[in-house]
Amino acid sequence: MERIIAYHQQTKHQPNRMARGPGRMDWSNQPDPFRSYEGSKRLALDRLGFEGMTGKLRPSPLTSENLSRFFFESLALSGRKAVAGAEWTLRVNPSSGNLHPTECYLLAGGGEELDLSPGVYHYQPKDHSLELLAGIREESWQSLHLPSGTILLILTTIYWRESWKYGARAFRYCMLDLGHALAAAGEAACCLGWTLSLQEELGTDDLARILWNEPDKMTDGPTGKERPDVMLALFSDGRVHRIDECLISGIETEPLSLRPNILSPSIVPWQEIDMVSEAAKKLTTPDIFSRSDVKAEEIARFSLKDNSDPSKETTGYASEHAIREYCHLFRRRRSAQAMDGRATMPLDSFHAILKATMPERAKPGLPWRLQVNPVLFVHRVEEMDRGLYIFLRDERAKEDLRGAMDPDFFWERPSRTPPGLELYQLAQGDARLAAKESSCGQGIASDGCFAVAMISRFEDPIGEYGPWFYSRLYWECGMIGQALYLSSEATGYRGCGIGCFFDDMVHRMLGLFDLGYQDLYHFTVGRALTDPRLIDLPAYG
Ligand SMILES: Cc1cc2nc3c(=O)[nH]c(=O)nc-3n(C[C@H](O)[C@H](O)[C@H](O)COP(=O)(O)O)c2cc1C
Repeated sequence: MERIIAYHQQTKHQPNRMARGPGRMDWSNQPDPFRSYEGSKRLALDRLGFEGMTGKLRPSPLTSENLSRFFFESLALSGRKAVAGAEWTLRVNPSSGNLHPTECYLLAGGGEELDLSPGVYHYQPKDHSLELLAGIREESWQSLHLPSGTILLILTTIYWRESWKYGARAFRYCMLDLGHALAAAGEAACCLGWTLSLQEELGTDDLARILWNEPDKMTDGPTGKERPDVMLALFSDGRVHRIDECLISGIETEPLSLRPNILSPSIVPWQEIDMVSEAAKKLTTPDIFSRSDVKAEEIARFSLKDNSDPSKETTGYASEHAIREYCHLFRRRRSAQAMDGRATMPLDSFHAILKATMPERAKPGLPWRLQVNPVLFVHRVEEMDRGLYIFLRDERAKEDLRGAMDPDFFWERPSRTPPGLELYQLAQGDARLAAKESSCGQGIASDGCFAVAMISRFEDPIGEYGPWFYSRLYWECGMIGQALYLSSEATGYRGCGIGCFFDDMVHRMLGLFDLGYQDLYHFTVGRALTDPRLIDLPAYG
């Protein structure tokens, strides 16, 4: 816990002292944004998305074609930009600095319609393929007793990709990116009528053993430290099943002798990142959330209850609504690089964007009591006063937040707020300067329709669950960010994550003076300006 707090405090940006960074960008040492396993057998996936899919879907069968669709709409390349001789790729999931520290692995048992031999695979977005890393014996897969049509995913992080540019603060960005990737995968699964569920009992070492057949080792080396973060079960019947994670941690794989690629000529160590990633390592923790204050009915609400009884209506099927609203725009999502400083937003669109961040809309559902409530800097929303607002995703947080924040805040519900939306005005006035200054002076925070500071419960949940929960706070913020990206696109606006902000400036603004609550992520939504110098190229040329 002390190490987590120390890291968090050390990596706060202040107007007169930024967190320790590299000072300059060493372009000759830029890490490769693509992990690959030299000599691995590659299986090309179809470059197929959700286009043409309409109406209410029943769960789609787990075929090679649908697995291709899932990756193509969640973690694949989605574009390429070029300007003055430079060219770079962009992906369906966003990433701080477009550096993409998140990797995805797949464990599949094969089957009639899934044309894969049982094994562990690495998803390669560069050419949308799977690299075979290890075989799994048929009996070993069967011994897991997974419902048929289930595959397992493991997300990992390569910190060096972010620390190369951002130095000590990079761990935070990596964990926000992980949250975005989780939500990108969860939303894509939902459009296929599949459910994705976090398997939070397994520890970091369990996951490393499954992937690489050895406990987690964080030695520096040219291949870059890569740490497993989380396992996800993907159920193609659209239900959520309880699975025996103990059995999964014992899975026997037959690793092929392969080497991960060298990411850059040298890797610069960041002791802050080593310290925090070590402190945030997760141990195996059976039933961690059932002994917490998440009550049974909430677990059901977050669809983690075993609902494998076929007579019950299930929550996992993609609704017509989801298909219409989101499924067609994952590959079109982009970050705004500049906002026009003029456009206003209709109140209904504003409410729809806020609703998209509600926990019951989150995919995958989070098993813990939600921790993050957004504070809003409202600049240009029709029928709303300019000012500071708070949107409570968890209405139970109201009294505690009210007690913790500036006693002069109004806590008044704007008159046209629909029932079920816990929106409160805190202060009236032009908040553009406050939004811009607190977001490291970035104009995107003041020139949009509104900006967001995600305020998370901090010391208590980390104390309750353990230091590893620090990462989860960022995952929750990243998932809210992804919901904001997608709902902004769906309403004709554009969003952008903001990882650079002056933490304590926001805390002072809100009257928060201890570690009970912390600001973990900023975001902005508005009408984006396009840069005419940039040329759009197809993702896969
Ligand atoms: C966690 C996170 C933090 C970010 N922080 C900033 C930021 O401070 N300023 C900014 O202009 N863009 C920021 N971005 C936007 C990224 O630069 C953008 O996602 C990346 O360039 C890829 O572009 P795309 O989102 O269009 O795919 C952030 C994105 C994420 C996910």
